[in-house]
Amino acid sequence: MLTLLRHLSSSCCYGGRRSIATVISGNKTSKLVRERLKKEVDNMKMSNVIPSLLVLQVGNREDSNLYISSKMKAAAEVGIDAAHVRLPNTVTQDEVLRTIMSANEDVSVHGLIVQLPLDSINHMDVEMVTNTVSPLKDVDGLSCINAGKLSRGDLNNCFLPCTPNGCMELIRQTGVSVAGKHAVVIGRSKIVGAPMHDLLLWNHATVTTCHSKTHNIPEEVGRADILVVGAGRAEMVRGDWLKEGCVVIDCGINHVPDESKPGGKRVVGDVHYTSAYQRAGFITPVPGGVGPMTVAMLMQNTVLSAQRVLANMAAAGRSL
Ligand code: GUN
Repeated sequence: MLTLLRHLSSSCCYGGRRSIATVISGNKTSKLVRERLKKEVDNMKMSNVIPSLLVLQVGNREDSNLYISSKMKAAAEVGIDAAHVRLPNTVTQDEVLRTIMSANEDVSVHGLIVQLPLDSINHMDVEMVTNTVSPLKDVDGLSCINAGKLSRGDLNNCFLPCTPNGCMELIRQTGVSVAGKHAVVIGRSKIVGAPMHDLLLWNHATVTTCHSKTHNIPEEVGRADILVVGAGRAEMVRGDWLKEGCVVIDCGINHVPDESKPGGKRVVGDVHYTSAYQRAGFITPVPGGVGPMTVAMLMQNTVLSAQRVLANMAAAGRSL
């Protein structure tokens, strides 16, 4: 009976009151990932290999500084040897490319990322910059080689982009299987929406990707068993758009004015949380949802890169 009552109260309606969503905590899940990685890094130390990450920044954007400091903090916690190189905003594209190529050549660097956006007074071809990072060290998964492998479903032979990979990890936490589900992605950026579409597809969902030219986004959203939003628009998705009981993953980080807060603003996602919470089965909060998972997945890719180097060294040793 108790089980039944629990079941009834967790389904959509009981005693006239709609259920509320289970919150999927990125803070908790990312902590578990970091703890697992710390053990893996400790094991690697026995082989005298310490995973290393180089974060290259162009300019001095305040938001990038914050993101980078959380990456450096997570790296220290896991035992990754991380360095942050900041080039001034007067740097030329050639100088940026030369810095990347020298990190590509440096065998002590396992992972290399270029923090985006690039903050320079000079013209920068972002595609050229991200594609100059060696695909073997591209722990952001943003180079066209890694993106191409992902788009073809070659998931075990590439680096998966950190935010979409973190979203998949949060979806796994719900216990809802992706295969056969209807997934909707809002946004088609190279960093979130496009790779998210690919990851869901190769995990066997039927995927619809919405963008600025999609005719009726609320109607598309209403069909989603799993919804991932990376639109960059504060509280765009309303609760009444959602299919009852769906999984909602919110990748948005938007600052909105709020005079009641010390800085006069607060952070909200791309989903209107309070209304979505009344209707979804699972939902990620902002902050504390996808954000910490992005950082954890960067650490995971860096450890994976070092493990691949170690495996190649062992294979070369065996063939001597
Ligand atoms: N800027 C915002 N998010 C990211 C990210 O995941 N990687 C990089 N390189 N830059 C970013």
